[in-house]
Amino acid sequence: MTNKNFQKNIFWQKYSITRTKREKKNGHKSIVLWFTGLSGSGKSTIANFLEEILFKNGIYTYLLDGDNIRSGLCSDLGFSIVDRKENIRRLGEVVKLMLDTGMIILVSVISPYRDQREMICNMLGKKNFIEIFIDTPIHICEKRDPKKLYKKAHLGEIYDFTGVQSMYEVPDKPDIHIDGTNSLEENSKKIINMLYNIKIISFLN
Ligand code: ADX
Repeated sequence: MTNKNFQKNIFWQKYSITRTKREKKNGHKSIVLWFTGLSGSGKSTIANFLEEILFKNGIYTYLLDGDNIRSGLCSDLGFSIVDRKENIRRLGEVVKLMLDTGMIILVSVISPYRDQREMICNMLGKKNFIEIFIDTPIHICEKRDPKKLYKKAHLGEIYDFTGVQSMYEVPDKPDIHIDGTNSLEENSKKIINMLYNIKIISFLN
């Protein structure tokens, strides 16, 4: 039987505790902050720093990290274009559900393909999705190489590594463009300002 036939007998169940009620209780709105960039660009470091600030200010957050997701939910997937698409599709479905919790969800994944990031934006709806491009030149990422993966890729010990054997498509018009060589304070401030300006949070740090 095809997936389509299964879907015929699936009915979306509505519950009484809605996103709006949760957002009201939390005292802030819910949104997805999608950090994209090369391995070693600083996505997770910036997301972590920002989450600490939000957390200290009473904001409900959760951070989903590519490596962590790939340790469980997506542990059956590799790094081909098709597998990367399935990786972020699953992630997209998870964050779509999590939006209903009224939290700010930070996602740190390379997500190297433009059309795949667009797919997530369409899945979530533009008003729920902020694309944050962590723009760090590849020679700096290679120099940082915290997991020694660029080294392994150049030695041919791993394949399809983003930036080496596999491409990274720079976002055309990211909602926030971050220079990955700037300070964490400066970079997180840029994101906080945006969250304040679009009325997701009501404090400025
Ligand atoms: S994505 O391209 O599919 O979005 P994702 O962010 O989930 O990537 O996972 C990237 C992480 O997987 C990297 O931080 C790195 O630690 C690890 N990794 C292992 N092999 C590769 C590879 N070939 N390309 C990119 N990342 C890899």
